[in-house]
Amino acid sequence: MTKLALSSDHAGFELKQKIKIELQNQGHTVQDLGPSDDSRVDYPDFAEKVAAAVASGDCERGVLVCGTGIGMAISANKVSGIRAASLTDVYSAEMSRKHNDLNVLCLGSRVIGEGLALKLLDVFLNTEFEGGRHEGRVQKMMSLENKG
Ligand code: RB5
Repeated sequence: MTKLALSSDHAGFELKQKIKIELQNQGHTVQDLGPSDDSRVDYPDFAEKVAAAVASGDCERGVLVCGTGIGMAISANKVSGIRAASLTDVYSAEMSRKHNDLNVLCLGSRVIGEGLALKLLDVFLNTEFEGGRHEGRVQKMMSLENKG
């Protein structure tokens, strides 16, 4: 079972609530970092909370939901140690884990339906990083954080 940090903005709130229930039903530990209702908020504030929880090691993985997933992914990737992507298809979800060791899944509630969102979540949680030749590439990717 995985300890996950979960958050959204107003556009992603409804889907976040469904994801939370699904994760809890599966036995995962969910740290819901808000918001607690669908009042208008700024997505970078919530991306930062999840990214910090994952980067600190407090949570193993993170899930962020906004309208497109894009603002959340861009914001989360600004935090050192985060590899976030907004995903809309199962193949990319699988490869993002196998090759890129994705640690924050971003979803767009205005782009994909609940069924696909839950499938992408399942692939994100149950696909292992392959390591091997991908290890050095991930390290190179992360070392870009230290270049100006
Ligand atoms: C909010 O209207 C919207 O901009 C946000 O949810 C997200 O799609 C940004 O990337």
